[in-house]
Amino acid sequence: MKMNILIIGGGGREHAIAAKVAESPLTKKLYCAPGNAGIAEVAECVDIPVMDFDAQVKFAKDHKIDFVIVGPDDPLAKGCVDAFEAAGIRTFGPRANAAIIEASKAFSKDLMKKYNIPTASYEVFTSDKEAIEYLKKNEKFPIVLKADGLALGKGVLICNNLSEALDGVKEIMEDKKFGTAGNKLVIEEFMTGPEVSVLCFCDGKTIKPMTSAMDHKRAKDNDEGLNTGGMGNISPSPFYTDDIADYCMDHIYKPTMAAMASEGRPFKGVLFVGLMLTKDGPKVLEYNARFGDPEAQVVLPRMKSDIVEIMEHCVDGTLDEIELKFAKNAAVCVVLASDGYPVKYEKEVPVEIGGHFGKNGYYLFHAGSKIKDGKLVTNGGRVFDVVATGKDLPEAQKRAYEATKWVNFANKYMRHDIGNKAVAAFKASRH
Ligand code: AMP
Ligand code: GLY
Repeated sequence: MKMNILIIGGGGREHAIAAKVAESPLTKKLYCAPGNAGIAEVAECVDIPVMDFDAQVKFAKDHKIDFVIVGPDDPLAKGCVDAFEAAGIRTFGPRANAAIIEASKAFSKDLMKKYNIPTASYEVFTSDKEAIEYLKKNEKFPIVLKADGLALGKGVLICNNLSEALDGVKEIMEDKKFGTAGNKLVIEEFMTGPEVSVLCFCDGKTIKPMTSAMDHKRAKDNDEGLNTGGMGNISPSPFYTDDIADYCMDHIYKPTMAAMASEGRPFKGVLFVGLMLTKDGPKVLEYNARFGDPEAQVVLPRMKSDIVEIMEHCVDGTLDEIELKFAKNAAVCVVLASDGYPVKYEKEVPVEIGGHFGKNGYYLFHAGSKIKDGKLVTNGGRVFDVVATGKDLPEAQKRAYEATKWVNFANKYMRHDIGNKAVAAFKASRH
């Protein structure tokens, strides 16, 4: 049945989702709340904030919405899916009681411990005094401090010595730099190895991993500078071999699904598993309860299956009936940010777009843009995601960097090494 579909969110991830949903023969009319200037090319944008569930539900009823897709973490954690379901509207995404797998790191660590899912060893603290006592006795550095709650990907501190760790406890627990996210603190063993992001479709019982991706979280080249929401991405990861994928299916993905179901929190939607491939095997760094941003921007352009059909199977609990299909190519995403991101940056800077986006495997997803006085201007730290596919990673990387030249604004900033490590590993695997 053709459906009226509403997407909640307004970043590059939602643009990538919207582009795919718009292509589906199951889509009648597509809306996005609040959307952005790029999403407006494929959907009708509605000016409702992501956290205003009452207004979203009212809009959905008034416009005969059949199906809702929720993109970002905050509304998922606060019960956006629950609000739509209460109104009888089929909705893709986890309920609040399952989105907690991302919203509380203490919850996810305790879950992994209880069900023997491989992850870094850890302790949880609610008192800063106890955390400080623990750190003073600790002899192994670096050590990792994590604010329990949602902190825009920034609530993780890697501390190289005791004095940095004590400063970190103060920042998170006393100064509340990440707000109430810092009411609890997770202190975790430091791990090393390549990081891989695997997004999985889930229907509460069955879990199906998509192709792998690899984020580039630091602001500057060579993985220097502050942590960001993500400065670029590649797919597939050459580090994620078939053997590793099989191991993760048996020891991580399936056990996580089963664990959430036995806790009375069946997980439906996209489970994003952040992995570190350590010398002792793959371990979970974190779970997210949604598509990654910008992981979605490299994974979805490679997906051959109909996204709406899969999402319906997730909602209906029939994911075991279908197979996910991905092209045997590669994709690279380079984020164009405003200079100064993630700290301080100028907005409303005019943008010029040329080139050939929208054909031959070139995509321009808008992360933070808007129309002001009829002109396209920047409206955020991450402004655009330039994506290109190619027959392999080296070709996709070359094409993506070529396409970054087609978009210009005065304070344009990007990393110049997105995909370098993956391309080197890809080439090494060929010799
Ligand atoms: P998270 O939000 O938990 O994924 O953490 C953000 C980033 O911090 C990760 O992508 C890793 O690069 C790093 N990180 C988190 N936990 C650890 C750990 N236990 N050991 C080493 N690096 C970590
Ligand atoms: N790119 C990492 C995230 O979406 O959390």
